Amino acid sequence: VVYKDSSSASRSVAKEIENLIKVKQAQKQPCILGLATGSSPKGLYAELVRLHKEEGLSFKNVISFNLDEYYPMEPDSVNSYVRFMQEQLFNHIDILPENCFVPDGTLPKDKIRSYCDEYEAKIEAYGGIDLQILGIGGNGHIGFNESGSLQNSKTRLVALDHITRVAASADFSGLTSTPRTAITLGVKKIMEAKRVILMAWGESKSNIIKESVEDTVTSQVPASYLQEHNNAMFILDQAAASKL
Ligand code: GLP
Repeated sequence: VVYKDSSSASRSVAKEIENLIKVKQAQKQPCILGLATGSSPKGLYAELVRLHKEEGLSFKNVISFNLDEYYPMEPDSVNSYVRFMQEQLFNHIDILPENCFVPDGTLPKDKIRSYCDEYEAKIEAYGGIDLQILGIGGNGHIGFNESGSLQNSKTRLVALDHITRVAASADFSGLTSTPRTAITLGVKKIMEAKRVILMAWGESKSNIIKESVEDTVTSQVPASYLQEHNNAMFILDQAAASKL
């Protein structure tokens, strides 16, 4: 779906989330959201905060699982995704802190494997993700599933592509201090989400959007796997859709 700009697009995604939360509230069920970081979902989170503050939307029945976190990463570090989520969303709404899950970037390396299995088990215990929000990396990554990630890949520690590190290096004041690894939800759990919404804005995303949507499904462009999801939607502004 192509919108004239990212704000109207973000508002429509927020509306869908609001409806889902309310349906689940009426059913007295938790609403399981898969959340993303990066600049693309910022407008969505701002709109959700507005819906909470101005229209009383409650997030008390929401359980959130974030896609990824740099490794190693302290939660209170300026670039941590824990901090990003607190600043952009969690601190401004009534979601319960114990219901907000972000992969832990502080674990010793030998604990990561079992931690990742537990992260997936927790999602499964809640019945899976109702709605997964995604951005897209310039190389087609989703979460931190870089080119080459398999469709059945599990939640795991991954090496970041050079191009991903370059994109992140401004935040880390240079490439040498940019993390080389991250923990990411695997493609399999993303594909198991009941609904997936990938958001992309701007001309710089237009080539990879075309490859993801119109070209062959390939592990080189993990976002292309979404062609095989039965309830996935790309929400784009006109610039990101300009090569379609
Ligand atoms: C990071 C995140 C991704 C995100 C991507 C794109 O790599 N791990 O989840 O989709 O950035 O970021 P942006 O939305 O800023 O373009």
